[in-house]
Amino acid sequence: MCDNPYIPDLAVIESIVQETPDTRTFRAVFADEYIRKQFAYEPGQFQQVSVFGVGEATFCLTSTPTRSGFIEFSVKRVGSVTGALHEMPEGAMVGIRAPMGNHFPYEQFKGKDLWFIGGGIGMAPLRSLLNFCLDGRADYGRINILYGARSPEDLCYSAEFSVWQASPDTRLFLTVDKDDPSWTGNVGFVPACLTDLAPSPQNAVAITCGPPIMIKYVLQNLLKLGFADEQIYTTLEMKMKCGIGKCGRCNIGPLYVCADGPIFSCAQLKELPPEH
Ligand SMILES: Cc1cc2nc3c(=O)[nH]c(=O)nc-3n(C[C@H](O)[C@H](O)[C@H](O)COP(=O)(O)OP(=O)(O)OC[C@H]3O[C@@H](n4cnc5c(N)ncnc54)[C@H](O)[C@@H]3O)c2cc1C
Ligand code: FES
Repeated sequence: MCDNPYIPDLAVIESIVQETPDTRTFRAVFADEYIRKQFAYEPGQFQQVSVFGVGEATFCLTSTPTRSGFIEFSVKRVGSVTGALHEMPEGAMVGIRAPMGNHFPYEQFKGKDLWFIGGGIGMAPLRSLLNFCLDGRADYGRINILYGARSPEDLCYSAEFSVWQASPDTRLFLTVDKDDPSWTGNVGFVPACLTDLAPSPQNAVAITCGPPIMIKYVLQNLLKLGFADEQIYTTLEMKMKCGIGKCGRCNIGPLYVCADGPIFSCAQLKELPPEH
């Protein structure tokens, strides 16, 4: 990041993947060669992306630091900045302030079985950690991915599913809310699917991100399955402005989600006031 944390670095959109009807993944390369080489981040961190003349919005880094030279972020079209990003062609320039926030404590995950539980665009931060763990496959136990979306066409990163499944001791479970003639996989909500799969909490960690209603029931079901609060991690999504703990836009009690988060264990969440 530039010395002044409010000034974005320029980056060129190198390629764009249409993941779903409303979500695109952008691969960006910093224009400045020095920044491109020095830029370092961790899985779970996020960034502020600016579209000049429109505004700035928050996106997690969905790429993984083990694959350097570029960064990726996935954008669901919901409003002005996300809409403007969806209109941008390859080769266009954006501003990036990054990296921001804390990251998944992957050192603590070593030797453990991992359960990635994602819903919709919530797979974006999980993908960063997942590919990080797959790139260091020997460091972790069995890797399980439970990913759901409203319909088959709403599943992001489908081009990578076969690569994930081909990794040693790695299982991918897909589910959709609504049945579809082309779909031969599971139909049902992610929390119910999780209960059916009944993961053992022994030497395991669960990492979840998705719509708030999904997270609520996933957390409940994990606790019922015997997972302790300390074994469950999630990411919080509060509206942000500065991204660096200065403006007070994203606080929950004494914590700033942008600077103290966005990654929290379930144990940490229970310590927070009930406004999240
Ligand atoms: C830490 C963090 C990480 C995030 N990571 C991602 C990511 O990886 N990919 C991604 O697509 N988004 C992500 N978001 C959400 C993203 O920042 C917002 O969707 C974005 O700021 C919307 O900007 P906008 O200018 O397009 O919408 P605005 O013009 O500000 O909003 C337009 C309308 O959309 C509604 N809206 C805004 N955000 C959302 C939303 N998330 N869902 C539904 N409706 C919404 C608003 O209430 C408003 O009605 C993240 C947010 C945080 C805090
Ligand atoms: S966004 Fe400004 S304090 Fe968090």
